[in-house]
Amino acid sequence: MQILQTAAALQAQTETWRREGQRVGLVPTMGALHEGHLQLVRAAAQECDVVVVSIFVNPTQFNNPEDYRLYPRLPEADAELLEPAGCTALFLPSVEEMYPRPTVLHFDFGSLERVMEGAHRPGHFNGVATVVSKLFHLCRPHRAYFGQKDFQQVAIVRQLVQDLSFDLELVAFPTIREADGLAMSSRNRRLTPEARTVAPMLYQALQQAERLVHEQATPDAVRVAVSELLGQEPSITLEYFEVADAETLQPVSEWQPEQTVALCIAAHLGGVRLIDNVVVKTA
Ligand code: PAJ
Repeated sequence: MQILQTAAALQAQTETWRREGQRVGLVPTMGALHEGHLQLVRAAAQECDVVVVSIFVNPTQFNNPEDYRLYPRLPEADAELLEPAGCTALFLPSVEEMYPRPTVLHFDFGSLERVMEGAHRPGHFNGVATVVSKLFHLCRPHRAYFGQKDFQQVAIVRQLVQDLSFDLELVAFPTIREADGLAMSSRNRRLTPEARTVAPMLYQALQQAERLVHEQATPDAVRVAVSELLGQEPSITLEYFEVADAETLQPVSEWQPEQTVALCIAAHLGGVRLIDNVVVKTA
């Protein structure tokens, strides 16, 4: 596995591969890799000839400086996990390499970013769209892999690909969970043992919400049930729970027949912010 640290090296290598007719897969990450990331890499290795994984803790997408400072950084351990998963090249740039000068371009994804993560983390999706655009331009992948765990991020990147005519196929991969249901996340490493014990309640609340959708409870009844369930656990602070249309991401007030909805949650446990979601089809 090669380790590339400059934008020029990534451009040159992927350009060579493309000229040779190799299909390039890209898996963008912020590192502190877990099985969720590695499954994306394995899928890319199955479907592409060469796989680039980027590890870059992108400062422009953090609206909370403390979260940026405390974000786990483990490049050596990550590199050891990547090679057996099928990574061909690890792109590990510095902040100066990705942002030699501050960016001025601003993305506005309209209603897609006025809800959920976009509403609660001002500037977050501008930072995501900026860094993902840079990675797409530098790597020019045939396929790019993203996890459904970040449901709204997938919707934003899909819009980005469409609006800027990136010539690539976006692959949205299902959420990988721990045995007790907790969605894998780099931030799980920061949970205290006590917080780790209660963290699976987020997925339990989503499963309860899913059952209520199948029982045709109203969207508002589903919202109330989730907030009551999590209200019983004092160490969990619910930031939002939303019943959103899976396409438009807008809050649902009444079910439409055979509508696909995303049940999305964000909560704080002892200073760590976690998100999760499940996607459900109504009757
Ligand atoms: P990061 O949180 O490191 O996640 C990298 C990719 O792994 C994302 O596409 C994310 O959705 C996916 N992923 C994370 N946990 C997962 C899980 N449990 N199951 C399946 N996929 C999972 O998301 C980012 O980084 C950044 O915003 C990035 C896109 C790299 C831009 O900086």
